[in-house]
Amino acid sequence: MEPPPAVQTVSLVKIYRGDGVATTALNEVDLKVARGEFVAIVGPSGSGKSTLLNLIGALDKPTSGRVLIDGTDITNLDASQLAALRNRKIGFVFQSFNLIQRLTALENVEVPLALQGVVANERRKRAYAMLQQVGLELRWNHKPSALSGGEQQRVAVARALVTDPSIILGDEPTGNLDSKNTQAITQLLRDLNERTRKTVVVITHNLEVANEADRILFVRDGRIEGEEITGLGRGLDRDRDPPPNRKNVTQNPRSGPVLGKGEQVPS
Ligand SMILES: Nc1ncnc2c1ncn2[C@@H]1O[C@H](COP(=O)(O)OP(=O)(O)OP(=O)(O)O)[C@@H](O)[C@H]1O
Ligand SMILES: [Mg+2]
Repeated sequence: MEPPPAVQTVSLVKIYRGDGVATTALNEVDLKVARGEFVAIVGPSGSGKSTLLNLIGALDKPTSGRVLIDGTDITNLDASQLAALRNRKIGFVFQSFNLIQRLTALENVEVPLALQGVVANERRKRAYAMLQQVGLELRWNHKPSALSGGEQQRVAVARALVTDPSIILGDEPTGNLDSKNTQAITQLLRDLNERTRKTVVVITHNLEVANEADRILFVRDGRIEGEEITGLGRGLDRDRDPPPNRKNVTQNPRSGPVLGKGEQVPS
């Protein structure tokens, strides 16, 4: 039997009501993202991108329609079940990093583990290992205010990944970064996707970021109005192929150097 998609939406509708005005942010969106796929979402401001991502990430409830994560319909879960699902399966990365300012980098990465009830020793060990993966272990004791934007976003990526979620969702994760850090974060996501087969869905306004995806979805007026399979995604069957090593699968120079085990993102 085919494995279910990592993410599926069925006739997804979101209408915001307030001040006597109803805004249809999403209008019957049907979407499937395969396990291990890297999808970019692009579209004009106000087209419904964040709304879609928030519904996929169980941060909000649809007006109608359904969201399935790994084949499970999450639409009817209650608040605590949704929180558990988010904590276990989904890692979020936001444009504004959303780090807790009074905590160190290490402590920020520990937060999702604390929510899972992981004991302090174990928490610290796993958080430190994640900081190593994003190349920031030497900064473990720094507060966010003492880190650059790119470094803060790497902490946020480490925090999103520390619980080993299968799906990473990014809402313009490089929106506040300069081009060098945009590239570093994009390569980090690409590398995680390739090495650990994590499903990645990112909203971006940056075509260089979108071009690192396997597939680009174009959203307009609350609908998916088109898609493009990129050179990286073409011919790839994520559900059947072994974990891809795109260095061999494609000769696409855009994919850049893929980090090996233990290697660090250049700072
Ligand atoms: N909480 C809310 N209450 C009312 N309307 C909202 C709310 N959130 C979003 N909207 C409206 O829904 C529509 C889609 O918004 P959304 O944030 O999904 O767009 P977006 O594509 O992410 O835009 P941007 O690129 O600017 O982030 C917009 O018209 C927006 O004004
Ligand atoms: Mg948005």
